[in-house]
Formats: sequence, structure tokens, C-alpha cells
Amino acid sequence: MTVQIDHALEEIRRFRPSPEFAAQAVADARLYQEAEGDRLAFWARQARELLQWEKPFTRTLDWSNPPFAKWFDDGELNVAVNCLDRHVDAGHGDRVALHWEGEPGDSRDVTYAQLTDEVKRAANVLTELGVGEGDRVAIYLPMIPEAVVAMLAVARIGAVHSVVFGGFSADSLASRIDDAEASLVITADGGYRKGKVFPLKPVVDEALAKAEGGTVRNVLVVRRGENDVEWDASRDHWWHETVAEASNEHEARAFGAEHPLFILYTSGTTGKPKGILHTSGGYLTQAAFTHRNVFDLHPETDVYWCTADVGWITGHSYVVYGPLANGATQVLYEGTPDTPHPGRWWEIVEKYQVSILYTAPTAIRSFMKLGRQIPHEFNLRSLRLLGSVGEPINPEAWIWYRHVIGGGSIPVVDTWWQTETGAIMISALPGITDLKPGSAQVAIPGISIDILSDDGTPVEGEGGGLLVVTEPWPSMLRGIWGDPERFKETYWEKFGDKYFAGDGARRDEDGDIWLLGRVDDVMNVSGHRLSTAEIESSLVAHPWTAEAAVVGAADETTGQAVVAFVILKASQVEHVTDVSEAAEELRRHVATQIGAIARPRQVFIVNELPKTRSGKIMRRLLRDLAEGRQVGDTTTLADTSVMTAITEQVR
Ligand code: WTA
Repeated sequence: MTVQIDHALEEIRRFRPSPEFAAQAVADARLYQEAEGDRLAFWARQARELLQWEKPFTRTLDWSNPPFAKWFDDGELNVAVNCLDRHVDAGHGDRVALHWEGEPGDSRDVTYAQLTDEVKRAANVLTELGVGEGDRVAIYLPMIPEAVVAMLAVARIGAVHSVVFGGFSADSLASRIDDAEASLVITADGGYRKGKVFPLKPVVDEALAKAEGGTVRNVLVVRRGENDVEWDASRDHWWHETVAEASNEHEARAFGAEHPLFILYTSGTTGKPKGILHTSGGYLTQAAFTHRNVFDLHPETDVYWCTADVGWITGHSYVVYGPLANGATQVLYEGTPDTPHPGRWWEIVEKYQVSILYTAPTAIRSFMKLGRQIPHEFNLRSLRLLGSVGEPINPEAWIWYRHVIGGGSIPVVDTWWQTETGAIMISALPGITDLKPGSAQVAIPGISIDILSDDGTPVEGEGGGLLVVTEPWPSMLRGIWGDPERFKETYWEKFGDKYFAGDGARRDEDGDIWLLGRVDDVMNVSGHRLSTAEIESSLVAHPWTAEAAVVGAADETTGQAVVAFVILKASQVEHVTDVSEAAEELRRHVATQIGAIARPRQVFIVNELPKTRSGKIMRRLLRDLAEGRQVGDTTTLADTSVMTAITEQVR
């Protein structure tokens, strides 16, 4: 009897690949042995087989100056040609690259031949507007095909893109333009979100008025929202007037494998976002390898859909570079999951017969809340693989995803990685690995992961600690734009030559890895990274605020939620008659300064903050409070009565 129960429990904890799936799987278990035997030879083979090199490389890795890695550095390639022209040359010009679906229901199919043509035209326009090799171009666009075209056109001419998520404010856009010294911005008049047009060009105008560097000389504007925009004829150009008119002849040059491809800003532990720098050959190799093997891509038959916005790293690696390098057919959707009805995503899956779906746990949990009857109205039988990214996926959500969306028997892969790692690092390989709900499982072939205790000793066997990558990998970040010191300090100082990811992790008795969330002051809200310091400095910039402390509190749907504790200036207290209005004003303020994603779920106006004798705010206690727990040990507080007072104010 017990044996049977144990066996049943084991079944729930673990799912073996079905023989049918395993028989057709792209990945091969021998990849692990090959990579273990000779990691560098393994990656060199992937780079040669997955990409087209104009000049073959002879050196795989140069790690003579850690932490600055060079991969395949004497080789030359053109990233855009790898994503476009070579598929057309191979006879796949008529294959759909993008099934684009606009939020209002308009749609457009773009084939590889059309996408190549459009990228060539856009590349010519960029060159005419004076963008040259190594120049930075900021991209601030909705999820429309032109976003993909813009990124690839920049890559094609050897310029460097910095995509800024369309939900960021003018201030955030301005500081990113300044930091990268961008010379051109590509935007749209507006895009659709939640049934309305949200303006983008006006935000760019405001950002350019704020940007201190004055580096931007041209703005290229796609017409999408048809909203009214102001026009500066000396600077602004319509996409449909320039790109459509440009020549579709464009000879692509090859660039060195270490040529910069993009900068992507992400939140760190300070108030200033970091410009994470990625280069060409290594990045594209790992993006393509993981996209093919982790998602079991059969490019001739699959319809792949990654729901991420191109403004995040997931959109870079698994909407643009990985899928297009592999010649995949994919869905690109402009809007929100619930517009105009809560079944919108499932309607899209049915319409395009999506076979591979990659999304975030926060979305899955929102759908769980709405109930299974909504997806059940649609035919989801085309799905054969599901993926998850951005935060730990709790076993309940994993099981729901597999059963309600996946019909009960298809693989779910939980993929761990970061903006900095560029591509997937930890994940099951479908068809090979037994799946375990809640765990990201094992390092992919060619990647070396370990768990260390705080003093740097490896945790042997079962146990928890800090996640590190012990060997350089092809798609690793090459630095922080303009700040090599911060690059070293943030990731390499703690454990010498091992990359410190900032995540806590635990290894279970089978050797599978469970991610435990950030160990630094970075929050993860709906899979998006936010820095406590950045939101605190925004709050303190408000004329009413004297002091502010921000914590990430556990939230059922979004993973974590931003909760702020604010002390008002004495001079302001008498003017603030309504505390909830003051809290509302501060929430609004953060949304305008940083972007709606950073808007705190709650702002508590308090008289004091818990501090140690040396003046450090004890966020741990505030987190207890925000999560509705009994407040923990307060003995190290300078004044132990403070927490009682705050608790009374908050409850
Ligand atoms: C978290 C997103 C658990 C983690 C690709 C990491 C995850 C941060 C997972 C990076 C996962 C991402 N399980 N946690 N499968 N995937 N994370 O840079 O804390 O936006 O450090 O990259 O998200 O977020 P980023």
C-alpha cells in the first residue's frame, strides 16, 4: 500500500517524457556528454552549425582578461543576414516569419522574404540619416512588425540598439537616451493597449526636451495609432514616407563576432539602471541553440508564440534573435491578454494553431484566477509544448498550465535566465528530462552552474545558497555600458571568477535546482525587474517626501508587489489633510517618473522607519508588515518601539 502511495506521489512530482514526444525530440541526451567532455568544442560546433559565418572563427574563447570574455572573436558574421537573408537564400522566402495580430483585431502575415526586404529598406534609411557602425539607436515602439524590422535594420548596419519598453516614462527614456548617447530614436505615433491608443511620439518629444546630452538628431516615426502628434520637420521623419520609398537593395557587411549588438537597460541595486551590453556571435549562438533545443523547434511545422514584449530581454532573445535565426514561424501580438475579452490569447492560439507557447507565471496565475472555462471555449489542441520564464513558477500554476492549457500531457519547461545571461541557462530539455513542477531543474548543456554559501564554499549535494555560473558562456553580458567598474563589482567581486547572479537557489536530492528569488534589493513584479533604490529615489524626489523605504512583498498574482513606506516632510504634514490622497499622489508620481509598472501597490504614510543603530533601514521588518506577518526580531533596532508604532499606523 505505502509503496503504491509513494509511487503515486512520485508521479505527481515528476513527469516522464511521453515516448511519442521523445521519439521526435530535437534535443539529444548526448549533448550533455559532449559538452561535459569538451565544453568549448561543443559551443564551437553549435556556432558553426547554427550560424552562417562570412569569415570562420579559429578561436572559441579568450578568457585571458576576466571578466571580459571574447567568444569566436576572429570570426565575422552579420546578425541580420543570419536571421533573414540566409533563410530566403535557402528557399524559405515564402515561409511566414510573423503572424502579427493587432489588438483591435487587424492582422498581417509577414514572410521571410518580405521581412528581409523591409529590413534592407530600413537599413538604407538609417544609413541615409547618418547612423553608422557602432552608433546607438533608441527604439521605443509597440509590438508591431516594425519593432522587429527596426532592431534587425540597426543590427544589419552594425549599429547598436537600445530598446526601451513602451511603458516607460519620458524621464526613463531620457536617461537611457543620455546614457547610451543615442543619435536616433525609432518610435510610433502610438500603439494599442487595453482598447485605447497610448501615445508614444509625445513621450519621445518630452524625453528629448529633457535629455541633457542633445545627442539625438533624428526621430523615425511609424504610423500606428493615428493619434495627433506634433512635428518637427528638421528632426522627425515618417517611416511610411522614408522606409517605403527606400531601395530594397542592401549589401550587408560582416562584423566581428564581438561587435556590440545591443544595450538593454535593467534595474540593479542602485537608483541608476544598468545598460547591459551584448555582442554578436556568442549571443546569437546561444539564443539559437536554446531556442531550438529547449522549445523543441521544428521550423517547418511549428507555430511558436512568445508573449514577451521586445522591450525586455525575453523579447530580444526569444521573439527576435533566437526564433528568426532558426527560421521559425511565430505569432506577434500587440495588446493585452484581456482585450477585448478575457479569452483573447486562447483565441489567438486557436486562430494561428500555435504549437509552442512561452509566457510568464504571472500571466498563468491571472488566468487561473479567471477559471478554466475561458480557455476551454477555444480549441487549444495545436499546443505541444509550454514554457515559462521570469520568476519561479509555483507547482500549482505549473500543473494548471499543463492541464488546462496543455491538455494534460505535454511538456512544460521552466527556464531560468537573466538579461545578463542573454539566453536560457537552466531548463529541462523536453523529451529527455523528467519534468518536475516548480523546479527549473538543470543547467543546459555547455553551462556550468553551482550553488555557493555566502563565504564562497560550494554547497555539496542537497542544500541552499547563492546561484553562480562557474564558467564563461557564449551569450554572457560583455559589460555595463560605460561602466566597467560597476560590471566587475556587481557580478564578479563577490566570488572572484564566478558570475554571481543575485538569485538564491536550492539543490534537491535529485540534483535539480529550485530558484528562491533575488537576494539583493531587486524586486520581481510580474516577471519585471524593479529596483527598490530606484523607486525610493523617485519617492524622495517628490516635494512632500522626507524619507522612503520600498520593499517587494509577496503577491498572489504578480509574484511580488511594490510596497512603500513614506515619511512626509514636517512642513508638508499640515497641508496633507487626507492620508489616502497623499498615498495616491505618491503612487501616481512614481508611475509618471518611472513608468506604470513601477507604481506601488500600496504606499503607507508613517512617522518613522525601522533603523539599526548605524542608520540602515531594516527592510526585512517592513516586508513582514507588508506581507501581514508577525514582525520578526527587532532587537537590533535603534529604537525597538518604532515597529509597534508603524504597525499601528499601517493596520
Ligand atoms: C528571475 C528575465 C525563477 C530571477 C529572463 C532572475 C526566474 C531575474 C526565472 C532575471 C525562473 C527569471 N525561475 N526565477 N524560471 N526566470 N527569473 O533580467 O530572479 O528580466 O535573476 O530576465 O528573473 O530577470 P530579467
